Amino acid sequence: MAPHVLRTVAEVKAWVASLQKEGKTLALVPTMGFLHEGHVSLMREGGRRADVVAASIFVNPTQFGPREDLARYPRDFEGDLAKCASAGVTAVFAPEPAAMYPPGYQTYVEVTEVSQGLCGERRPGHFRGVATIVTQLLALFRPAVALFGEKDYQQLQVIKTLNRDLHLGADIVGMPTIREADGLAMSSRNAYLSAEERQRALALSKGIRAAQALLASGTRDTRALVEAARRELQAAGLREDYVEVRDAGTLSPLDTVAPGQTARMLVAAFSGTTRLIDNMPLAG
Ligand code: PAF
Repeated sequence: MAPHVLRTVAEVKAWVASLQKEGKTLALVPTMGFLHEGHVSLMREGGRRADVVAASIFVNPTQFGPREDLARYPRDFEGDLAKCASAGVTAVFAPEPAAMYPPGYQTYVEVTEVSQGLCGERRPGHFRGVATIVTQLLALFRPAVALFGEKDYQQLQVIKTLNRDLHLGADIVGMPTIREADGLAMSSRNAYLSAEERQRALALSKGIRAAQALLASGTRDTRALVEAARRELQAAGLREDYVEVRDAGTLSPLDTVAPGQTARMLVAAFSGTTRLIDNMPLAG
């Protein structure tokens, strides 16, 4: 069945109230649209964890820097609705920017520590925008569960932190990155890539896998692990934005991956003018 489309905050409040009256639990999947298999996996998991699934489709202007791709971010609302329908989504919230940021709007959410470094450093203001819109959505929908992809790993830690610190009460679920058959992490921004840039973009996942293999062979020094990933980026002619190994929970930088430690390698690089990110676990 086609999802119910909600456009205003008032419509969301009325819809959520009727759901609560029926005693139904809600799973929320916040997105910026141009949906792919990764988003669909979040929706399907939402359906396993709650009675009803809602998705939001909103290209949130506050999380884009002045020189970023807000104006050309890919959109396909009709296609997105069809994907939501086949993934069992009951309602789609697709507001205009003025519905979320009306005149007089003045509240922004800043998550301090886990927003530092990585994308937080390379994209100033990005996580403030993400934290602000996600807080609004969690406050509005009051979902039992909210699902996000691990592809945006630092974003996931930011959202877990704000949900905990602001007592929003959702169960924040991170789901594994969905990849193309050749290893490329699915992303709406892959639509920007030419065939050649897409081929070169495989170096992100290849680089992390090279680091995983090096760790498995006994090299625990993170500088050597970073170098292994970097070599793949360089061989493919990608411009590195960052390659780092961090603690998987706190995101604090690591010099070595200790036995039993859960670490994460996080990579950002440009293929042509398109900035791509990827990450995978490094098991100590
Ligand atoms: O990951 C995204 O698509 C966005 O950053 C999110 C979480 C929907 C907030 O706008």
